[in-house]
Amino acid sequence: MVCVNHILHVVGARPNFVKAAPVLRALRQRGMRQTLVHTGQHYDRDMSDLFFTQLEIPEPDFNLAVGSGSHAAQTAQIMLRLEPVVLECQPDITLVYGDVNSTVAAALVCSKLLVRVGHIEAGLRSFDRTMPEEINRIVTDRLSDVLFTPSADGDTNLLGEGVARERIHLVGNVMIDSLVQFLPAARTCSTSGLPERFALVTLHRPANVDHFENLRGILDSLTKVSQELDIIFPVHPRTRQRITEFGIHSQNLRLLDPMPYIEFLALQSRATVVITDSGGIQEETTYLGVPCLTLRTNTERPITVTVGTNVLVGDDRARLMAELGKILEGNPKKGTTPPLWDGRTGNRIADILQRM
Ligand code: UD1
Repeated sequence: MVCVNHILHVVGARPNFVKAAPVLRALRQRGMRQTLVHTGQHYDRDMSDLFFTQLEIPEPDFNLAVGSGSHAAQTAQIMLRLEPVVLECQPDITLVYGDVNSTVAAALVCSKLLVRVGHIEAGLRSFDRTMPEEINRIVTDRLSDVLFTPSADGDTNLLGEGVARERIHLVGNVMIDSLVQFLPAARTCSTSGLPERFALVTLHRPANVDHFENLRGILDSLTKVSQELDIIFPVHPRTRQRITEFGIHSQNLRLLDPMPYIEFLALQSRATVVITDSGGIQEETTYLGVPCLTLRTNTERPITVTVGTNVLVGDDRARLMAELGKILEGNPKKGTTPPLWDGRTGNRIADILQRM
C-alpha cells in the first residue's frame, strides 16, 4: 500500500490542460497537497495562457519553458529540466495526461526516480506506430503504476498487454468533465456574425499537415466543402507554419487564430458538422451529439465510432463529400454517450488516489 500525500502533475500541451483541470479541482476539494509543473511544450497565449485562465487552473509551481523542437530534443529537454524538480519535490505519485511528448518524458523521469506514475487516459491504442502519440501511449502505459482508463476498450488493450487488473481503473473520460462544467458558459457566447449552418474544422496531425501533397489534398477538399457550407477554421500554429512554408493557402478558406477553450466549445456545440484530425474533438462531438468527420484512417478512440457520432473518412474526398451530403440532408450518424462520460471522472480519480 502506497501512502499518497503529495501529488505532482505534469502538463505541457493544450489537451493536457483540459484533462488536468478537473483532477486538480477534485484533489483540491479533498485537501490533498499538489504541485503543478508546466513543461512549456505549448507556450503561446492562445495555446496555453488562455486555457489556464478559462479552465481556472492555478499558476504552475514550475514552468520548464522547453518550447518547440524535434521529438527527441523536446522529450530530452523535458526530462533534463523535470528531473531536478522531481528530486526537489519528492512526490508520492506523478500524474501524467494523454499522449503528448510531455507525458512520456515525465513518465520516464519519474519511473527512473522510483516515483509512482499515474496515467490519465490510459489504454488508448490506434495500433498505428507511425503516429508519435501511439509511441507515447505505449511507453507511458508500460511505465505507469496506476492506469486510469476512459472506456472499456482501454482496459481490454491493457489487459492484452499484460498489465495487472488491479492497476487498471475504468474512471471515464476526464475531458468530458471540463466540457460539462463549461458548456453553460459556452452557451452564453454571442452568436452574432455566426452563420446559421457551418462546418468547424481543425487540423494538426503531422501525417496530414507536414507533407505538401497531403496538406494540399485536404485544403482542396475543404475548398470543395466550402461550396456547400460555411467553414470556420481556427488554425493550429504547426498547420499555419506549413501552409506558409508550402505556399498553398486557398483564397476560399479564412484562417483564424487558435481559439480559447470556451469559445471553441461554443462553436463545437453549434456546428452542423466538425471536420477534424484531433483525438479529443472526436470525443467532445460524441458527447455533444454533433456529427464528426475525422480525417484519419484509424482512431485510438474507437468508442466514438461504435457508440458516438464519429465517422472516419481518412483522405477519401468522395467519402467526405458523401458523409457531408448525408448530414446536410438531415440524416447524420446518430450516437449516444459512452458510459461514465458524465462529468464526474475527476472525482472518481481523486477518490481512488485518496484511498491509496
Ligand atoms: C502536440 C501533441 C499532439 C496534440 C497537440 C495538441 C505531441 C507529440 N503532440 O502536437 O498529440 O494533439 O499537441 O495541440 O506531443 N507551436 C507554436 N506555439 C505553441 C506550440 C507549438 O507556435 O504554443 C508550433 C511550433 O512551431 C511547434 C509546432 O507548433 O514546432 C508543433 O508543436 P508541438 O508541441 O511539437 O506539437 P503539436 O503539433 O502541437
